[in-house]
Amino acid sequence: MKKAIYPGSFDPLTFGHLDVIRRASKIFNPLLVAVAQNEEKHPLFSLEERQEMLKEAVQDIQGVEVSSFTGLLVEYCSTNKIGVVIRGLRAISDFEFEFQMALTNKKICDSVETIFMMPNETYSYLSSRIIKEISKMGGDISSFVPTHVTKRLHQKFKNR
Ligand code: PNS
Repeated sequence: MKKAIYPGSFDPLTFGHLDVIRRASKIFNPLLVAVAQNEEKHPLFSLEERQEMLKEAVQDIQGVEVSSFTGLLVEYCSTNKIGVVIRGLRAISDFEFEFQMALTNKKICDSVETIFMMPNETYSYLSSRIIKEISKMGGDISSFVPTHVTKRLHQKFKNR
């Protein structure tokens, strides 16, 4: 099977991300789930924390490796001989950014193809941003993220 990368902020990962990981791992092997160091987005969780949460979540999924990258995604792909980028596409609202990113990446690195996967409709409305907002205001997020992520969010907001 072909090697692929599933890049993202994963701040934090949701059941939607996990659904894409499970499905992509049946088609690609190894599947690198790569956390972007994008500090300009001011992530709630550090790079290490985001990786730790992902590692715990994917430990039972065969062929999945968790990594991280800084700088351009296509450069990381070239260095690591990765020809396929997986992105989840939830709704029309995702389309514009994803379209721009896929075409720009293709323009600067012709050997990288982007493949989109729709998460199961159960998860199509989920976003890390909304989950953080609900958790910050004390709402129940247990049906959106794994238990260990719920605990980390509670911890994070308790300490703020
Ligand atoms: O989960 P996100 O925040 O939607 O992921 C976006 C991400 C990290 C995949 C994207 O911002 C990215 O690839 N960043 C690395 C820098 C880069 O290559 N930028 C050019 C993209 S056109």
